Amino acid sequence: MDLNNLQTVAIDAAIQAGKKLREGFGSAFEISNKEGVHNLVTEYDYIAEQTIISQIKHSFPNHFILSEEAGANDSTSDIRWIIDPLDGTVNFAHSIPIFCVSIGVEMAGEMVVGVIYNPMLEELFVAVRGKGATLNGRQIRVSTTTNLKDAILVTGFPYNVAQNIDGCIDDVVTILKLGLPLRRLGSAALDLAYLAAGRFDGYWESRLNPWDIAAGMLIVREAGGRITHYDNSDYKLSNGTVLATNSLIHDELSKALHPNL
Ligand code: IPD
Ligand code: CA
Ligand code: CA
Repeated sequence: MDLNNLQTVAIDAAIQAGKKLREGFGSAFEISNKEGVHNLVTEYDYIAEQTIISQIKHSFPNHFILSEEAGANDSTSDIRWIIDPLDGTVNFAHSIPIFCVSIGVEMAGEMVVGVIYNPMLEELFVAVRGKGATLNGRQIRVSTTTNLKDAILVTGFPYNVAQNIDGCIDDVVTILKLGLPLRRLGSAALDLAYLAAGRFDGYWESRLNPWDIAAGMLIVREAGGRITHYDNSDYKLSNGTVLATNSLIHDELSKALHPNL
């Protein structure tokens, strides 16, 4: 399979879905609650998802597709599309223009293409395995910050944050006590894309789903960053923990957050 073909379809699908999200942004749309408090889904999550899935099916009718709202199809293909049609739904639902479309493609167990598109800023992040990462066609690299004390960090919380899952509240307290600038954008995929572009030096979060991370993990790696679980083992798509950095501050951030792992 030619990676260029996969990349072209992924980019096209992300831009088309992003266009739909941009059109819907700020309009009156239906919002429902999924399992858990504040876990929202809007009409536009589904509209973006259908746009993406129909384009993939048109080009590659037999590929495996896993998408957040639609779930997985029954294909046994080893080419797997992993899609978050709208990452940052809570922002979108509150007319906050920080959200994106995230599409990752895995081949024989390896991520080979990652596309993250922020339709409001028209920023398109793309990575192809072995070919680096780009933002609107220009090569991007992670930051060169070498010490945690100089870092700007970003994190996110699971919807059941109040239960202090995986110590997520303690982690924030730890970083605030170090006096470091810490952001919470509300879109895991954009957190990773921004890390890859050198805008952040480090990011952590627990209990994410494969669709939150699939594209971003490749974009981060191809931009020279490192992505692991909290225990520093290589990141594998799962519902586990994520620690991603410019690689230079990885060990220091890992120790600061979880000194006993
Ligand atoms: C959410 C966002 C958020 C993260 C949540 C995710 P959604 O995805 O990525 O930043 O903190 O854990 O579930 O629901 O907007 O697709
Ligand atoms: Ca998501
Ligand atoms: Ca989503």
